[in-house]
Amino acid sequence: MQLNSIWTSNKTPVIATLIITLLVFSTRNIGKKTPDSLGSIRDLKWSSINFLHTTDTHGWYGGHTNQKLYGADWGDFISFTENMRSIANSQNVDLLLVDTGDRHDGNGLTDATVPNGIEALPIFAKQDYDLVTIGNHELYLYENSKQEFDFIVQEYGNNYISSNVEYKNNDGDFEPFGKKYKYFTTPNQKARILSFAFLFDFTRNNEGTKVTPLEDVIKEKWFLETLKKHPGQDVDLIVVFGHIPIAHTWKELLVLHQVLREYYPETKIQYFGGHSHIRDFTIFDSNLTGLQSGRYCESVGWVSIDLSATGDLSPQKIFARSYIDFNLNSFLHHSGQSSIEEFETEAGNNVTRTINLVRNKLHLNDVLGHVNRNYYVDYVPLDHPQNLFKLLADQVLPTLQPTQALKNQSDERIFIINTGSIRYDLYKGPYTIDTRYIVSPFENEWARITLPKSIAIRIGPFLNKAGYILSQDKDNEIDNRRLLPLHQYSQRLKQEQQLRAKLEEEPEKKFQYPAFSPFFSQDAEFQNEASITRQKLSKGYVTHDDFGDDGDDTPHKPVINFPITNVVESKQLDIETGEHALVDVIYYKFIEGNILWALKHIGYDEKVESELYSTTYLNQLLEVFVQQNEI
Ligand SMILES: *[C@@H]1O[C@H](CO)[C@@H](O)[C@H](O)[C@H]1NC(C)=O
Ligand SMILES: *[C@@H]1O[C@H](CO)[C@@H](O)[C@H](O)[C@H]1NC(C)=O
Ligand SMILES: *[C@@H]1O[C@H](CO)[C@@H](O)[C@H](O)[C@H]1NC(C)=O
Ligand SMILES: [Zn+2]
Ligand SMILES: [Zn+2]
Repeated sequence: MQLNSIWTSNKTPVIATLIITLLVFSTRNIGKKTPDSLGSIRDLKWSSINFLHTTDTHGWYGGHTNQKLYGADWGDFISFTENMRSIANSQNVDLLLVDTGDRHDGNGLTDATVPNGIEALPIFAKQDYDLVTIGNHELYLYENSKQEFDFIVQEYGNNYISSNVEYKNNDGDFEPFGKKYKYFTTPNQKARILSFAFLFDFTRNNEGTKVTPLEDVIKEKWFLETLKKHPGQDVDLIVVFGHIPIAHTWKELLVLHQVLREYYPETKIQYFGGHSHIRDFTIFDSNLTGLQSGRYCESVGWVSIDLSATGDLSPQKIFARSYIDFNLNSFLHHSGQSSIEEFETEAGNNVTRTINLVRNKLHLNDVLGHVNRNYYVDYVPLDHPQNLFKLLADQVLPTLQPTQALKNQSDERIFIINTGSIRYDLYKGPYTIDTRYIVSPFENEWARITLPKSIAIRIGPFLNKAGYILSQDKDNEIDNRRLLPLHQYSQRLKQEQQLRAKLEEEPEKKFQYPAFSPFFSQDAEFQNEASITRQKLSKGYVTHDDFGDDGDDTPHKPVINFPITNVVESKQLDIETGEHALVDVIYYKFIEGNILWALKHIGYDEKVESELYSTTYLNQLLEVFVQQNEI
């Protein structure tokens, strides 16, 4: 292999600095797609091998129409990567594109069709990925797994890899989605790469598919033989990309790390992760880092690796990372282009055109109502008037009526929804068909059980309490933290790990259930700096990762994710009635396991059987509410 040894950081390609005024005077009206406040953008650091990474796109190929910060669409992204490939080729370095799954559920473009994804997947597949793998959202419904196998795997051929997920073919045999691994040589640097792709230990997959936990795969013969067949001297880089969080709190990639280092003590390794919907970068050792690139086409992740670096170097000397905001300012800047005309490519334009046609065909822009202000999942506390859960609990849920006449219906009701049932904020502007799928794509039915009030009122608080303490308990087969939105779940794990570490340091301190703090509040100094120098910046991600807090390509005023509870309740109780009065407890059938678990642990041993309460999905309820009320 020949590595370009002159490739050192002082030879980084000079990317023309974007002059923002040129953008403003560009002929095509990109105003609607670009954020208002343009901060200075941090340049990417190129090296001998470079990666662009997407994950958890969940069908957001049309861009965020109500948020300029993420206003680019999939066609713009394709133009971007074409530009970036030209830069790489002109510098004789490599650029590889990676996606780590979850392409369904979360946007009208995928969810408004039957089957889900039939229009969106061909759009996704126009991107020329070098490495693609599967996420759990390709595995809930058989029809989605079938599309993945019949279409996406075919489209990407040898670039589709899954080391631990299989599909039951027509003969009833399981075969991998794509290849189990890939060993290849990059076009420019001739770097030899060994690559695997893993999904986390997911168990809610449909019966036409099989997921073998990573911890089992690494003991399998094929895996160990693959490692032996490609010893360290034949591998310049190992790439493990998968639908698994790269956080230190998530065990699977740590386990893999042990095995890989047994076979490859000094080989450079890069992980790409997903699923928890956050921007993150972690150091596993000085030759191994992990990148995770957010969610919903808000971010494109970047990693560059200096393959010629040898000796005992810090990882900062070998790896660089960046989180690129999914908008045209960032895309043009990093492409070194000063006008849209130079930037756009024919393939990119074609895809933008297709997206618009499909969005029109599916009526995604059709206006159903109007929202006068933003409602947030967690950018404000739960009791804030602009918290989306508060809106739901105070005003929307009480409008739910039973679909059929129910016997012994109580006037007193408690609704319990898990906070993970809401996927995205509700932004000011038109409420469209698309919004329906964006805010809560889940099609779950409501179930009812009737309980004495004294018991009914304890369920919600119990589910919210059951985090840290119960996760310590071996019998706790249900982890109620999983009721949270994914990014909140990963943050909870991190805070609990910090708490455990603190308790180990000071074991004499009595255990207290933690009052979880906002994600960024520990960093008071940073907040101060932000408020003084960053007033002019747009609000967005300020990511704290193992390399520091300069990873976001665009400096932002930080949004704060306030801690939220596992479940939120809406109570319609009569203070006049006693604790024995019967109350209807209404919840998504999806969380029935958690409800029954809570009843058991509360000590309620009467037999309970739920019945169907309503088939009106939460998103339908919200839609009618928005149409009939000023919000
Ligand atoms: C990282 O890899 C280099 C070889 O590229 C090696 O010299 C160095 O010792 C490795 N670092 C560690 C901590 O193993
Ligand atoms: C773009 O679309 C046109 C018209 O459908 C087609 O002829 C052309 O080949 C497409 N170009 C690319 C690069 O996909
Ligand atoms: C309805 O309530 C009555 C009186 O409390 C009870 O006897 C009856 O079994 C209940 N019926 C159902 C279907 O729960
Ligand atoms: Zn996801
Ligand atoms: Zn996922």
